[in-house]
Amino acid sequence: MLLGAMIEARSCERFKILSEEINDEDLRVFYRSLMESEARHYMSFIKLAKQYAPNTDVDSMWQEFLEFEAELVTSYGKSETMHG
Ligand SMILES: [Fe+2]
Repeated sequence: MLLGAMIEARSCERFKILSEEINDEDLRVFYRSLMESEARHYMSFIKLAKQYAPNTDVDSMWQEFLEFEAELVTSYGKSETMHG
């Protein structure tokens, strides 16, 4: 569930960047709506993790995931990519 949440959260971030940087207004609105959908998906995975693992400190585990990911990112680069 947390891995799914992470994938959705990163998709959300990418669509946010696209929605903020693109000049075409229709595409801006489209990417913004995708960003909002991905944000909902991310939150759904977190909610499901808490629902199906009531005895697990999901917030702490999520924080550990984020720290692990940050370590990976700093090890392999910082540039923004769509599928990189
Ligand atoms: Fe999604």
